Parts: sequence; C-alpha cells; structure tokens
Amino acid sequence: MTSVDMLRTPAALADAERWTAHNYHPLPVVIADGDGAWVTDVDGRRYLDCLAGYSALNFGHRHPRLIEAAHAQLDRITLTSRAFVHDQFADFCRGLAELCGTDLVLPMNTGAEAVETAIKVARKWGYRVKGVPDGRATIVVAENNFHGRTTTIVSFSTDPDARDDFGPYTPGFVTVPYGDLDALAAAVDDTTVAVLLEPIQGEAGVLVPPAGYLAGVRRLCDERNTLFIADEIQSGLGRTGRTFAVEHEGVVPDMYVLGKALGGGIVPVSAVAARREVLGVLKPGEHGSTFGGNPLACAVGTEVVKLLATGEFQRRSAALGAHLHAGLGALVGQGVVAVRGRGLWAGVDIDPALMTGRQACERLAERGVLAKDTHGSTIRLAPPLVVTEGDLDWALEQLAAVLREAR
Ligand SMILES: Cc1ncc(COP(=O)(O)O)c(C=O)c1O
Repeated sequence: MTSVDMLRTPAALADAERWTAHNYHPLPVVIADGDGAWVTDVDGRRYLDCLAGYSALNFGHRHPRLIEAAHAQLDRITLTSRAFVHDQFADFCRGLAELCGTDLVLPMNTGAEAVETAIKVARKWGYRVKGVPDGRATIVVAENNFHGRTTTIVSFSTDPDARDDFGPYTPGFVTVPYGDLDALAAAVDDTTVAVLLEPIQGEAGVLVPPAGYLAGVRRLCDERNTLFIADEIQSGLGRTGRTFAVEHEGVVPDMYVLGKALGGGIVPVSAVAARREVLGVLKPGEHGSTFGGNPLACAVGTEVVKLLATGEFQRRSAALGAHLHAGLGALVGQGVVAVRGRGLWAGVDIDPALMTGRQACERLAERGVLAKDTHGSTIRLAPPLVVTEGDLDWALEQLAAVLREAR
C-alpha cells in the first residue's frame, strides 16, 4: 500500500459528503486537533487557521483559561433552562453589560437568534416607545448584508443564494446601499424603528464603510428617534483592534448584537446588549430560548469578557493587523487587486485572471494555510488573535507563492 492509500482524509470526506445536506462547500481538509492558531488534520498535517471559525475563535483553539472555565463548569452544572436562575448567570450578564457600557443583556445561542431578538426588541420598542402604528414597523438594512439564515433574516438578504426559494418573506424591511448616508436618510421615516448594520460587512468581503458613515448613521438615528443596531457578531470582540468595530468612529449603538467569539470557540453563545429603555420592553413570556444563557455558556462567556477586559487581545489585533495589512499591501499588483479590512481581518481580492477565490484557498490549504473565499475572487483572512508575527509572515509567504505559481 502506498502512503497515499493510507491517508484517512479521502474516506472521511466521502463519509461527510454521503451523510450530510449540502449547506456548505468545505475545503477538503478534515481537522482532528487544534491548539492556539494551529490545527492538525486526521493525517497529521498542520495548518495555520486563518479563518478562526469566521471569528468565533478569536482567542484561538482551546485557550487554556477558557478550557479551564468550561471544565470547572462541566463538573458542577451545565443546564438549568431559564425556568430557574443559576449562579453563573448574573456574573455573565453584568460583565458583558459593563464591557458594552450599557444596562442589560439578553443571552441567546447563535448569531441569527441574537439578530432575531434585536428585531423583536426594536419592533416592540417602536410600538410601545416611539409610537409607530401597530403592524407598520420597518427596519432599514444594507445591501449585501449578512445577518444569518433564519427565514426572517434571509427575507432581507440581497444574496440570491441566501434568499431565493425560501419565501414567502417576512415584510417590514427596507434595503439601502451600504455606506450611502443620503440613501439612508431618504429611507428612514416615522415607521422606522431601527437601522440594522454590520459596522464592517464580513461575508460581503470585509467591506469597510467610508469614513464618517457610522458616525453619520448614529446622528441620523438620534435625529429621527430610531435605534441603531450594530451587528458586531463577526466584527466585534477584538477582531478589528478594538472591542467593537463601531469604536473606530467613536460610535455607541443603541443595541449591540454579539455572538461567535462570545462562546470562546467552545459553546454557541450570543447576546443582545442595550439600555434599559430599549431591552426593558421585553416582558416575561415574550421571548426565550431553552439553552440561552445556560450555566456552561455563561461560565465560558464570563471568562471571554475577562480576557477582553484586559485589552490585550485588542492591542494584539491592532498591532498584528497593521503587520498583516502591510504584508498584504505589498502583494497588490503581484496577483492581488485590492485589500480591505481592519485589525486582524482582511478581504483580499485576487486577480480573477489568475484564479478564483476558491482555487486560492485550495492552494493555500495545500501549503498549510486555511482561509475561506467569498464572492468569486475574494478571500477572507481572520486568524485567531493569538497568532504570532512569525505565523503571519509565514502565511504571507504561502500566499505570495500561490500567486507566483499562477502568474
Ligand atoms: C455579521 C453576522 N451576523 C450574523 C451571523 C449569523 O451567526 P450564526 O451563524 O451564529 O447564526 C453571522 C455569521 O457569519 C455574521 O457574520
């Protein structure tokens, strides 16, 4: 038998293909272990993880403090449901509220659930506080948004792959071009209860809005008595070099929507955080989740908040991000057409004449770098914030080699 015949990857891939619905198109890599910024596949090959679970692994794989918090909680109690209060709940909610500089937190599990929560809260706030006539509430969203996959959320997606064939669609959403304040001003009216935006559009290709846009959205929402909901699920919790991406423009939204890294890469943890006048509109029985805010989630989430409270990860992201962007900038004209992003987050447009984003990711994977394509020729780089400068230099060398081989 040749060594190729002994590889476990092909059979593992075939099995996954045989038994699962096709909602993703994964790279042909079967991961078995992870540690920090690195993972190992079933055949012992090592990869630098430059996707970090779409920012769910900001603290890397199995961060010792997060694993310790999870282990300790596993030995005590894991689930109570929200029918009872447990001893991890208040600490998590207080810690996260303080991190957000706001009053209240409502924990959920996945990002989409947190977005759904924000939509419900905004609508109720619109009816009960703003005085919008019953059933008329609208929420303004941006073109090319990505907020999740539920039927309501895909109702306001502009991506045909995400939306087509899943109607009938939930009404009450108005779409405007991202980054265009005039279009936003024209769309906001007396029925608008919220503007829901990603401060940087991740899935769209790490699109950073024009300078002044987020501050302009904040002003407009203040003038028109409308909530500004920032979906920081991918951009938040240190990814861009700040705790939240809105901070780059000194903006405080009315509601933060958080997820991904909040669960420390261990459990799904999401949340909305807002002032009492906003989140306080929910009354018992109006919203819930069996697993939302469970003891294990709260124990891990509390440790995540403590890690962020040190500022260390934000500083690493800013400094290493500058290094990454300098390296990527040097590849513009060498097979890279454009680079965008902030902190340790980059959208890299590969020259479509050379290869697709998918091909670039496959070739990077062969060289030991895991990244993910989006929209044709763009690849996203979002390594864990524990990555080292040496790791980044090595990843940049691999990207340069992939481009060189294609030219
Ligand atoms: C900005 C943003 N919002 C919401 C979501 C949905 O999160 P989840 O997949 O946990 O439902 C994502 C996921 O990529 C996201 O990037």
